[in-house]
Amino acid sequence: MNQAELHRYLVSKEPKIDDAQQLKTYFDLRLATNLSLIKSLFFSLYNEKEYVDQFYVLIEQLETLYGQRSLALQQQDIERLRAGNWYQSEQMVGMQLYVDRFNKNISGLNEKLPYFKDLGINFLHLMPVTTRPAGENDGGYAVNSYHEIDPRYGTKDEFVALTKNARKKGIFLMLDFVVNHTSDEFEWAKKAKAGNAKYQGYYYTYPTRHIPDEFEKTLPEIFPQSAPGNFTYNKEMEKWVMTCFNHYQWDLNYRNPEVFIEMLANLMSLANLGVDVIRFDALAFLWKKLGTQSQNLPEAHALISLFRMCLQVIAPGVILLAEAIVAPRNILKYFGEGMLEGNECEIAYNASLMALLWNSIATKQASLMLKSLTEIPTKPKDATWINYIRCHDDIGLGYDDNFIASMGWDPRVHKEFLLNYYCGKLAWSPAKGLMFMYNPKNGDGRITGSAASLLGLETALAQNNKNIIDYAIAKILMMHGIILTIGGIPMIYAGDEIGTLNDYTFEQDADHVNDNRWVNRPLQDWNTISTLNKTSDSPPTIIFKGLKNMIRIRKDHTVFKDTNNLKIYGCPNPHIFVYERTEGECNIYILSNFNEVTEKLDIGWLHSIGIQTGNTTIDLLTDHPLELINNELPLKPFQQLWIKNS
Ligand code: GLC
Repeated sequence: MNQAELHRYLVSKEPKIDDAQQLKTYFDLRLATNLSLIKSLFFSLYNEKEYVDQFYVLIEQLETLYGQRSLALQQQDIERLRAGNWYQSEQMVGMQLYVDRFNKNISGLNEKLPYFKDLGINFLHLMPVTTRPAGENDGGYAVNSYHEIDPRYGTKDEFVALTKNARKKGIFLMLDFVVNHTSDEFEWAKKAKAGNAKYQGYYYTYPTRHIPDEFEKTLPEIFPQSAPGNFTYNKEMEKWVMTCFNHYQWDLNYRNPEVFIEMLANLMSLANLGVDVIRFDALAFLWKKLGTQSQNLPEAHALISLFRMCLQVIAPGVILLAEAIVAPRNILKYFGEGMLEGNECEIAYNASLMALLWNSIATKQASLMLKSLTEIPTKPKDATWINYIRCHDDIGLGYDDNFIASMGWDPRVHKEFLLNYYCGKLAWSPAKGLMFMYNPKNGDGRITGSAASLLGLETALAQNNKNIIDYAIAKILMMHGIILTIGGIPMIYAGDEIGTLNDYTFEQDADHVNDNRWVNRPLQDWNTISTLNKTSDSPPTIIFKGLKNMIRIRKDHTVFKDTNNLKIYGCPNPHIFVYERTEGECNIYILSNFNEVTEKLDIGWLHSIGIQTGNTTIDLLTDHPLELINNELPLKPFQQLWIKNS
């Protein structure tokens, strides 16, 4: 039983909690319930003798921050608690977007809320909207302030109006908390540069190369091409500062408890804008230790859980998403382990599934996905995934080498094959992506590109080849069909719902040219969207309508709610990926053919896993009964079936 469940139990005994005094009583109860855990976590990171005063500062801080939360949000927190694990609902369908690239600014986005409703989206991940340095700023992930809205997007009032409007329309919002670093223009960095020792201690700063060199022995490089190394020399300070990402993103030093306490206030200033889910950006990197890779360290988990337990006391309705793009087994740890199970992040990116899907497209087989997904332990019951086929970042090839080897493939050769397949080096491959951060030292590289271009639509349209166009569309729908049904919140990248191609204009933009992730962050194409109801056979129309149909079916079936009710089958045909979702008497089977030729399944095997083959068994996508030929079920190239018995 996690802490959230205890809080839920407490509010369940009182049918109405809405005036300020009552709400405060429940704050006090939450504090009492979480306090020992907060204490243990705090002193596991910060020595008790040295930092006992800081602990009391933290407790005071919780009360102050609670006082700053609006009554409406305090009331909503209680409603969310009562609603249980609302984030696991089949009703949740997400879209990720850059506010300016979607429709100019915050008020432009506000105008477009009906678009989401039409498609069935009720959860938005808005990329950073707060102030950032002019010029290069990593799309706003270099933070000048955690709560000041950048004027290019609008005002704070406009943002709050958007959150209210979204709430009214039943749309949940997610924003990033860039927890690992600030920009070099953030007020603390400015003070540090001006020689203020206190603020130099908010970052990892060193007068000589001695410690940086020690760190470099084990720290990996995130952007080896554009930002090699993990330290930057700052002339004003005459010191080296740790910068694991770009030189203008300074890593925060959480070994200093004041940093934690102040960052908690920053977290709340974001939550108080009216956000439902906070995406903890780059959270695997939060704790640095010499002699290690400084990723996924136990202290980082304790710190995240400390944030979670404090946030839960102040605002129990706000939940956390772990952006941990790390090895499959390590991702699970962000849901909390042992005593902390269910007390860390509620949601995590399913980066393993994402990478495996791209492997399955390139190899035309589902075998590695089957092996990997069935061998990863089940996630805790209160947790869920964000399932996505791609996001604003690059696609990393994060597979378990042992699993690759068990397929009979050499891990290094296989990685090279995938990079070649997606980055235009194989003549037969329809994929059109770019290579991101290739490191010749170890053959590592990642892939960028929009979903449609990576799945062959750009090539197919250029060749005007109807067959390949149809295949690309089928692949786009099949990939989205998986993220919509496998359990968790599907997150569609804005533009992918109409098959938007790569955007090469970043090459002409001095602030983006060094970062080809901008190829997969296209402007929302409202011209094309305006044609959707006028044409019936254009690729954008087919993709949009196909997705809309899938979303509707998902929302009509509570079996798609994530209760760990997923069973993946070892399918005799290696090209077909088969899983089942169950709830009581309802079973839905999802079958996806990753091959470009028709593949078949024998009736005996279908029966053995519970699929009936009479007239009452239908494919929900087409509403037609299954059509068997000679006792075999054929799946056309890249076809997907959502099968429901009677
Ligand atoms: C996350 C973001 C990415 C950014 C990085 C540094 O990984 O998704 O876009 O570059 O953090 O903030």
